[in-house]
Amino acid sequence: MKGLILSGGKGTRMRPLTHTSAKQLIPVANKPVLAYGIEAIVAAGIEDIGIIVSPETGDEIRECVKDGARFRANVTYIKQDAPRGLAHAVLTAESFLRDSPFVMYLGDNLLQHGITPLVEEYRSLNCNSEILLTKVPNPSQFGVAELSSEGRVVKLTEKPQHPKSDLALVGVYMFDENIFDAAKAIKPSKRGELEITDAIQWLLDHDFTVHPHIVKGWWKDTGKIEDMLEANRTVLDTFERDVRGKIETSSAIEGKVVIEDGAEIVDSVVRGPAIIGSGARVVHAYVGPYTSIGNGCSLEYCEIENSIVLENSTIAHVDGRIEASLIGKNVKICRTHRKPAAYRFMLGDNSEVGIT
Ligand code: G1P
Repeated sequence: MKGLILSGGKGTRMRPLTHTSAKQLIPVANKPVLAYGIEAIVAAGIEDIGIIVSPETGDEIRECVKDGARFRANVTYIKQDAPRGLAHAVLTAESFLRDSPFVMYLGDNLLQHGITPLVEEYRSLNCNSEILLTKVPNPSQFGVAELSSEGRVVKLTEKPQHPKSDLALVGVYMFDENIFDAAKAIKPSKRGELEITDAIQWLLDHDFTVHPHIVKGWWKDTGKIEDMLEANRTVLDTFERDVRGKIETSSAIEGKVVIEDGAEIVDSVVRGPAIIGSGARVVHAYVGPYTSIGNGCSLEYCEIENSIVLENSTIAHVDGRIEASLIGKNVKICRTHRKPAAYRFMLGDNSEVGIT
């Protein structure tokens, strides 16, 4: 089997971070979301992985993943000229996939238990496709499946206004070569995309076998800031304590905390679950539960929790706790003594600032 990871798209719901960076490279617990997907595919015994990239973010993704050797994968990059839908991405990758069955993995999805048992199940069932489903409170934001009383897939609808079930399609799918005929046969949806949901419906309509698997354990689609923060909390919760950085005696490191090599904690409290990246400095600060501080960050005289801070950012002398925030790379949030005393911002397009 081969792997196909979709890592294109514009990431409009994650602006302004996605003005300058691919959404799949935003870190969860200091690791790009995309890396979790690659690791899950490799763990399932699949080494040949194609990554679909967009013209805008392809270089950055290449720079991060390179040839895949550090993941023990063999990565091929496939450029999709524009985000024309998941089924269009499959067609773009046709010559890479050739006649091999494959697992398609949306690069912003995270699954608690990975995909190894699912890939094994698909291999053993000898069906044309396997889809993953999970109950969600907001099915109209996803592809939705209706199952028969015997548990067979009856109908799939992409983002229905009036969903007939609460079973959402998770962004991991397994296909054989029949999916190419399906993707060629369907028409663009209302949003102008070739939907994979419609292609799978085509398989059903033409009597191909589509096996539904209800996912156990959590699944996260990290499309929005709330989802990112939730994924970050969920992953940090699985960590064990591992303190390697330098801790000044007056600091307190409480609970499940990872402090990477070269990080320095001075006169501060770090209360887990939390991770502090290598080269970060935390001085006279409080880092509370569910916080990921990226490599090379500097935190001084500030308090932060339930947040993600990307590499090389500085937060200094801020009164009041920072909470539920996603802070990009090289950002500076500092108190100044310039007059007039005022807030001074330089924010990218679509930034959001909350002030109490
Ligand atoms: C896509 C699929 C949808 C699926 C979702 C999972 O939605 O079209 O069927 O439920 O991924 O993450 P999109 O992220 O393109 O809105």
